Formats: sequence, C-alpha cells, structure tokens
Amino acid sequence: MYEKPPVEKLIEELRQLKEKAYKGGGDERIQFQHSKGKLTARERLALLFDDGKFNEIMTFATTRATEFGLDKQRFYGDGVVTGWGKVDGRTVFAYAQDFTVLGGSLGETHANKIVRAYELALKVGAPVVGINDSGGARIQEGALSLEGYGAVFKMNVMASGVIPQITIMAGPAAGGAVYSPALTDFIIMIKGDAYYMFVTGPEITKVVLGEEVSFQDLGGAVVHATKSGVVHFMVDSEQEAINLTKRLLSYLPSNNMEEPPYIDTGDPADRDATGVEQIVPNDAAKPYNMREIIYKIVDNGEFLEVHKHWAQNIIVGFARIAGNVVGIVANNPEEFGGSIDIDAADKAARFIRFCDAFNIPLISLVDTPGYVPGTDQEYKGIIRHGAKMLYAFAEATVPKITVIVRKSYGGAHIAMSIKSLGADLVYAWPTAEIAVTGPEGAVRILYRKEIQQASNPDDVLKQRIAEYRKLFANPYWAAEKGLVDDVIEPKDTRRVIVAGLEMLKTKREYRYPKKHGNIPL
Ligand code: HXC
Repeated sequence: MYEKPPVEKLIEELRQLKEKAYKGGGDERIQFQHSKGKLTARERLALLFDDGKFNEIMTFATTRATEFGLDKQRFYGDGVVTGWGKVDGRTVFAYAQDFTVLGGSLGETHANKIVRAYELALKVGAPVVGINDSGGARIQEGALSLEGYGAVFKMNVMASGVIPQITIMAGPAAGGAVYSPALTDFIIMIKGDAYYMFVTGPEITKVVLGEEVSFQDLGGAVVHATKSGVVHFMVDSEQEAINLTKRLLSYLPSNNMEEPPYIDTGDPADRDATGVEQIVPNDAAKPYNMREIIYKIVDNGEFLEVHKHWAQNIIVGFARIAGNVVGIVANNPEEFGGSIDIDAADKAARFIRFCDAFNIPLISLVDTPGYVPGTDQEYKGIIRHGAKMLYAFAEATVPKITVIVRKSYGGAHIAMSIKSLGADLVYAWPTAEIAVTGPEGAVRILYRKEIQQASNPDDVLKQRIAEYRKLFANPYWAAEKGLVDDVIEPKDTRRVIVAGLEMLKTKREYRYPKKHGNIPL
C-alpha cells in the first residue's frame, strides 16, 4: 500500500519545487540576463509591487508540447510569471515574461497564463501591467503559439476601455509579438541595445528591400518615441520604467466604473494662476511654451506628459486640478505654430478616447492656426486623420472644458472642442482670436478682386487686414454670439476650471444605443 511521506517531507519537496520554479531558466541564464543589464521577470515584479510582494498564479504550469526536444525542456511557469499584488495599496495584475526560459517565447501554456491573469483582472476590475521580454512565438509549438497570441490579443481587446493596460517593453519584441503591446493603452520603452520592437527585423529588411539598418535604428526606444509614435514613454532604465508605471497608475481609476483617484495635493483650489498672462507674447506670430501655462494651472505644477517626443505640435497628458485628475489637450505654438497635422490628430484622438473611457475630464488649451496644409498631409489623409479628433471629442461624455488662449482658427478651432461639438464650458482669454481663418488668408479670399484691381494693393491688403483683426482678433465677437461662456482674466483660469469641474461632477450624457461607432481610422 502506498504510504504518503510525512507532511514535513511534502512541504520540503514543495519548497524545493518552488525554488526551482523561481529560478526560471536557472542560475546561468539569470547571470546572462543580468550581464545584458536586464533584470529577471521576478525582480521586475518585485520592484513593481508594494513591499516586493505578489501573489503568483499558475506557478507550476508548463508546456504540454513535446516536439523539438520540449519534452526535455520543461520549465515551471513556462516563461512567464503571472499574478497580482498591490501598487500604492491598489490591486494590480501583472505578467512578466521570463527570457531565461526558452527566450521568454510564447507557447500555449504561456499564453493561457496571461489570459487567466486578464480574466481575473476583468472580474475584479483591476489594471494589468505587462512586462514584455520575449523572442516571440515559440517556434517548437507551431500554430499553437500563434493561437496563443490570438487569445492574448483578444483579451487585450476585451479589456480595452474596461481596465487600464500598461506595457513595459523590457526586451525584444519581433513579429506579431509587438501587437499585444500595441493593443494596450500605454507602452513604456527602455532605451538601450537590449530593448527593441519591430514587425520585421533587420535581416529580412535587408533581404526584401536591400535596406541596411541596425536593430536600434529600426525599432529602438528613440525611434518609437519620436518617429512612429508606437511608444508613449521613453525611459533610461528598468527601474525608471517601473517608477513611471506607478506614477501613471496613480492618475488612473482601476476600471471604467470608478472615478480616477482623488488626492489632496495641498494646492489651494481658489488660488490665482499667477503670472500666466506673461507667458503669451503680444505678437500673435511669436511662439511660447504652452507647458508653462499648464504648470501654472495644475496642482503643484505636476504634469505627466504622454507621447512627449512625438507629434510635438500637440501636448497631451495627465495632471490634477484641486486634487481631481484631468486629461489636458493643448496646442504647442513652438512646433508648426501649434497647427494640427496627421500625427497630432492621431495622438490627441487616442488620448481623448482613453480619458473618456476612464472617466477623466478633458481640458483643452487652445492656440492653433488650423490644420497643416500641403500635398504631404493631404496625400497621407489629413481628412481621415483630422476627423479622428472631431470624432473623439464629440463622442466623449466626460466633462469637457475649453480655454482659448490665443489663436483658434478654422477646423482646428472645432477640433479642440467647441460648444456645438459638445464642450460643456468654453472660456477665452482677452488675447483670444476666434475666426474661420487667419487675417491675411481671410482678406486675400474676401477681397481678392479689390486687391488685384487696386493701384496700391499692399495698402488695401493692410487696411483690410486691420479691419478683419479688429472684428475677429479678439474673443468678444464670438462671446457676443454666445459661443464663449466668458472672457476671463488669465489668472482666473485655474479657478474657472475648478468651478467647472465641480459643477460637472454629476454630468450624465447618453448616446444613441449602438454596437460601436465607426471612427475614421
Ligand atoms: C523558441 C526561442 C525563441 C522562439 C528565442 N528562443 N526565441 N525559442 N521560440 N521564438 C530561445 C533561443 O533558441 C535561445 O535558446 C534562447 O531563447 C535565448 O535566445 P538567443 O537567441 O540566445 O537570445 P538573443 O541573442 O538575445 O536574441 C534574442 C532574439 C532571438 C533576437 C529575440 O532569440 C530571435 O531572433 N528569436 C527568434 C525571433 C523570432 O523569429 N520569433 C518569432 C517571431 S514571429 P538556447 O537554448 O539556444 O539558449 C512571431 C509571430 C507572432 O512572434 C504572431 C502573432 C500573430
């Protein structure tokens, strides 16, 4: 008869098995991982969670595949550590791929573990942080790996708009493996040779196109943070990636049924935005740093900018005003004069939709001369892309407050959120200029014949521009028509936003029932 060993022995055996599981691919591979300047999956999770503690799930799960020697290469955990813990006291789920196990490659079990973590996170309404470090689809598991990716992608989509999803790119990501990160809300990428992501790597790029490019120039953090816009945040180290994840989470509700977390920041709600009026130059053609305005309005000058290095003509990010989280969308007159191009529209639209999905009120700070003209933009579809911003603002049901700081012209005036598009409150500074187009362009169209026929065309042009300026280069014409709720002193900007947000706290707005809208993509 089989006699069970004493419980002490069983516990000892369990401890040994756990020890083995915690070692992933073993000491040698852990050392190799460290030699590349990378932390292990467990070290990363320990940094993320409060007191370094987390609750693991499916610790002993391993592959069922046997092909290509996998029957002899069975690792507990199957190359990914999954579980939950607390981040600043709030429940967060996470998975961290373990490169020391079969290169962190994703097979059937590995995918199942990620899916399971998502299922639990969705049941309880908690964010998911994914730490990616993987050679991609596990080649030995063939189409099962691809099926696994399909399951992960589906969970990413099911979770989209329900729980926040943040990805840290902490290793390679090639082929379709890049698409799970791409389906999440935010990607944080670390700078350095060990970190890259692309659909097709340098070797195939060379064979197919004859184009020679390094791993970093094709898919490093700098490329994705500045050129492709794939990455929302670029950081210098893994520790910084974790710190940023925590900071980002501090602005987000745990799920779409919650309000974003209020924090008493100690910054008085009714203070002046002192000195804010000195930032905007009198000369309407002169640029200035819109961020300076943001810093003076928000609590303690703290602003977490998203996509800081990409599409810099628009600024988006999170801040608190009187302790309440807001999403800020602001034009940047230092870049293309603050005009909106394809990338800026994409960037803003995605941010607006994120805020709307997670109950984060939107504040627009406007200084834009319009959409960017020219064949480059038209051929690439500025119509299609520009429409995204209109769509996103019109669709959003969160409180929306607009402050027109200086120029607000044409389609871009509408795209920055005006009353007819659904803005709840629209304020303007006395420096505001609101019109269909800028003075010179307008006059050249309205008075083309007169200017052509005049003996002194320059004088006529100047005179007509002066007339046009007098009428439209101020906020009062629009305010008289009720398009602007109030013209405010710049120092009162914070106060009116605080009051507006307070009033709008109970805002409820409904949309026609539908399966989903069809945002122009
Ligand atoms: C199985 C893999 C693997 C993979 C790496 N390994 N990637 N095993 N499937 N996809 C294993 C290696 O064989 C090696 O095992 C160990 O992991 C470490 O890998 P190295 O190559 O030594 O590491 P490094 O030099 O750092 O190179 C990392 C890498 C390279 C650039 C990622 O491993 C690589 O090119 N891997 C294959 C990438 C790839 O083609 N993946 C499929 C992409 S297509 P040993 O035991 O020898 O140390 C895809 C489709 C998804 O992902 C589709 C979704 C729709």
